[in-house]
Amino acid sequence: MQQQVEQAIWLAHTEQDTVALAQKLAAWVKPGDLMALDGDLGAGKTRFSQAFAGAIGVKGIVNSPTFTIIKEYEGEGLPFYHMDVYRLSSEEADELGLDDYFYGDGVTIVEWASLIKELLPTERLELNIEHLGGDLRRIGITGIGERYAAWCKALNEIGAE
Ligand SMILES: Nc1ncnc2c1ncn2[C@@H]1O[C@H](COP(=O)(O)OP(=O)(O)O)[C@@H](O)[C@H]1O
Ligand SMILES: [Mg+2]
Repeated sequence: MQQQVEQAIWLAHTEQDTVALAQKLAAWVKPGDLMALDGDLGAGKTRFSQAFAGAIGVKGIVNSPTFTIIKEYEGEGLPFYHMDVYRLSSEEADELGLDDYFYGDGVTIVEWASLIKELLPTERLELNIEHLGGDLRRIGITGIGERYAAWCKALNEIGAE
């Protein structure tokens, strides 16, 4: 089936601009939503995830789940599943039962998502964070599927810069 695809670009001149994007998306999410993050080490994937968690009401500290692969948090009315799949082997992926998260009651953010592309639901919001020097980040956003495509359209209408 042909998926609808839309793109947007969010230029973050400061960390606060990255936080603002996460807050905007947090206002739109519902259970079963997926954000697939990519970008080099230090790009801001975890920072974005922390801002998202804060925005949906997760209390306490959200750290990088590099060694645990998945951490579960409780937001206000919505669980948050934070994954870092950098070290995930295919055997582990089977054991973890990723689909239970992707199609579960919460919202999932995956760091290094492109490493497990074939395990991700087709419909997702992809965010590719590029470090352009200093605090400047170029966040390339691709919405795959009608729902996420609409988010990109909305971001473009806001004039995402
Ligand atoms: N515009 C920005 N967006 C996100 N993080 C930023 C920005 N500017 C500076 N930073 C800093 O860059 C670092 C990003 O680290 P982190 O989120 O752990 O990266 P990653 O998870 O991609 O490896 C943090 O120390 C954060 O404070
Ligand atoms: Mg990280």
